[in-house]
Amino acid sequence: MQVVKYVFQPHGDERGQLVALEEFKDIPFEIKRVYYIYDTAPGVTRGYHAHKSLEQILICIHGSCKIRLDNGREKKIVPLEKPYEGLYVSNNMWREMFDFSEDAVLMVLASDYYREEDYIRDYEEFLRFVGEDGEEKR
Ligand code: TYD
Repeated sequence: MQVVKYVFQPHGDERGQLVALEEFKDIPFEIKRVYYIYDTAPGVTRGYHAHKSLEQILICIHGSCKIRLDNGREKKIVPLEKPYEGLYVSNNMWREMFDFSEDAVLMVLASDYYREEDYIRDYEEFLRFVGEDGEEKR
């Protein structure tokens, strides 16, 4: 599995840092939604779903956390701990977010609005979905 991590350009000077993200330039899709996760309780894992078509970029803009990616065949754990790093999460990818530091703010840029129909929340269904999808593409 290929993990795609973007390293954004911080515009730093003596005043501090600034990162700017533009759709189709820094971000490979139209940004239709931004949400962020903070005040995560200790020990919590969240996510536990995949998307049929949504693409996302996850940026831990403060603190740190870890992301478990699972394409149905392979799993990888990606630490996010820099405000200038973004993890690309494609559709058909099961994700779990965990190990949040107390001060963590995980910001997510998403290619579409919130649509419950796009979620796969059952792991067995996910395995069937990527299996069937893989067959179709072959
Ligand atoms: P949830 O899907 O449980 O978050 P996660 O996948 O990170 O564990 O979302 C928590 C709540 O927020 C749930 O009631 C749905 C709502 N929500 C929105 O209203 N809009 C959104 O864009 C997202 C991601 C969630």
